[in-house]
Amino acid sequence: MAGAKIPRVDLPEGLRLDTLAVREGLPASAWGENSEALFLTSSFVQPDAATAAARFANEEEAFIYSRFTNPTVTMMERRLAALEGSEACIATSSGMSAILLLGMGLLKAGDHVVCSQSVFGSTVMLFGREFAKFGVETTFVSQTDVGQWRAAVKANTRLLFAESPTNPLTEVCDIRALAEIARAAGAWLAVDNCFCTPALQRPIEYGADFVIHSGTKYLDGQGRVIAGAICASEQLVNEKFVPVMRSAGMSLSPFNAWVVLKGLETLSIRMQAQSARALELARWLESQPAVERVYFPGLASHPQHALAMAQQSNCGGAVVSFIVAAPAAGGPAAARKQAFHVIDSTRVCSITANLGDTKTTITHPASTSHGRLSEEQRIAAGITQGMIRVAMGLDDVEDIKADLARGFAPL
Ligand SMILES: Cc1ncc(COP(=O)(O)O)c(C=O)c1O
Repeated sequence: MAGAKIPRVDLPEGLRLDTLAVREGLPASAWGENSEALFLTSSFVQPDAATAAARFANEEEAFIYSRFTNPTVTMMERRLAALEGSEACIATSSGMSAILLLGMGLLKAGDHVVCSQSVFGSTVMLFGREFAKFGVETTFVSQTDVGQWRAAVKANTRLLFAESPTNPLTEVCDIRALAEIARAAGAWLAVDNCFCTPALQRPIEYGADFVIHSGTKYLDGQGRVIAGAICASEQLVNEKFVPVMRSAGMSLSPFNAWVVLKGLETLSIRMQAQSARALELARWLESQPAVERVYFPGLASHPQHALAMAQQSNCGGAVVSFIVAAPAAGGPAAARKQAFHVIDSTRVCSITANLGDTKTTITHPASTSHGRLSEEQRIAAGITQGMIRVAMGLDDVEDIKADLARGFAPL
């Protein structure tokens, strides 16, 4: 774009992430506010018709209409991009609409996608069912078996899609290895970084082309809004996503962008604190006779522990899943009954499928976040009826241990 640009906030070069998390954005308005302004306006007044024409024709950068440009949204995008180490970011109305925008921007009928079979349930549905309606085929592969990813690639493969760690099994993929497979195939790699956030993991540093976020989770951090984003190079954002956003309008509201923008300021300390509590909870769960198995990348028993520690700043994240012991003879029904009993016995944890909140949340993935999958898809993904997912918040971990222990007595 040759004409005027939207200015950057005046900061010295080379600032570190903690500083960028509280300062990156736009210059303050004429009033000099220290806390970023919330621009609740659907449109922007243009100085004259000729300038409006130049701006609508993309000859000049300016705020026009909040379906595709809004200062509060731009501040959030710039701050998240700075944290992810990407050139640009485009905010969306939800995490799922970020993946929808990714697909609409990159794929066309006849294209092929390779996707981890362990990704969030709605992501499986979006690739496996919705995109299939438009002639995009998806092959689902094991999250952790790099050979399966390589073998699944075809001449028409355009995109590899992973999430690391996965929801709820906390499986970790080797982002660098997947980036190499994508590169060799002339395809792109997208990584959903919802569980780690840039505070722990920056997929672009490992070669990913796109980072997907559900801003609903840790970026907001207090369970207030639904939001999403894609981080990528400026060229890919401008060429692939901005035109789709302008036509299709999966836009983030300025209010929700403001909440996420302010959430980003405390992201790093929240992630550190919640991850430390989650590690303690996971270690305790491992010692409980009522627990059959614990899934947490920070535990030495996790199959990809070493990879996770290298990729995730030595942190396991804050989501711990586990399988409650139940009489084997009772099969899946008994396992589900025991899991429901543990969940219903809690009095502190919030029974909700959301995660990334300061309030610790507890859910039964097989009947909530992954309830729309077929039993076959759930089994392939390893999500059994006895599994419970706890997303550790900022509650005192001793209170959460006591809360779970209430339901650990056999039925
Ligand atoms: C890993 C992951 N990606 C994407 C999403 C979708 O995000 P949203 O609910 O903001 O659409 C979720 C939601 O739980 C998720 O856990």
